Amino acid sequence: MKLFIDTADIDEIRTIASWGVLDGVTTNPTLYAKVGGASYESILQEICTITPGPVSAEVVAEDVEGMLTEGRRFAKLADNIVVKVPMSETGLQAISRFHGEGIKTNCTLIFTANQGLLAAKAGASLLSPFVGRLDDINEDGLTVIRELVGIVETHGLEAEVLAASIRGPRHVTEAALAGAHVATLPFKVFQQMVRHPLTDTGIVQFRSDWEKARAALASRTGD
Ligand code: E4P
Repeated sequence: MKLFIDTADIDEIRTIASWGVLDGVTTNPTLYAKVGGASYESILQEICTITPGPVSAEVVAEDVEGMLTEGRRFAKLADNIVVKVPMSETGLQAISRFHGEGIKTNCTLIFTANQGLLAAKAGASLLSPFVGRLDDINEDGLTVIRELVGIVETHGLEAEVLAASIRGPRHVTEAALAGAHVATLPFKVFQQMVRHPLTDTGIVQFRSDWEKARAALASRTGD
């Protein structure tokens, strides 16, 4: 499963890239608003210098022509830009038009397998069901991932299921087991995945035993 980071924060992206585990980046208007300070386009361009993987740039227009104008502008920024388009009737039209122009799209705000099926048929290369937001309203986000992965694989659709709105490490494990092709994670979830209390105590113990062994050797040899 590929791992993307869900952020517009350059330092966070650089950190995860430095771990050697970064396959791509997703951004959205909310994530851009959190960092601000520069134009969305210049931030996207900088992100594209950090990773060769897909970098999702979200359109905010609600009409087809507006989506196409924004998306075409994003697509010119770098070869690895993927235009993120919200699920809607106009969104499907835009996805289909982008597909015809060879511009890759990520259909966002998917909450049912049927929405994902429509997006795949329209030509989206990434389908983004929002796991956490479904869990928040007492539905099961992972069920949508499982159903959509099943549909994509059964029918050989040319799209990848991207588990989005990931809230914690357990979501990542469950999405991987459900066969999601990609998961996009907040920086904090990457950090949570690294940690385990037994790893921390193990490191302390190994260091302490190493120092004891060195001290014992030094006292025997006088070094
Ligand atoms: C996906 O690409 C979205 O940016 C993101 O995962 C939304 O997640 P949220 O529910 O944490 O806002």
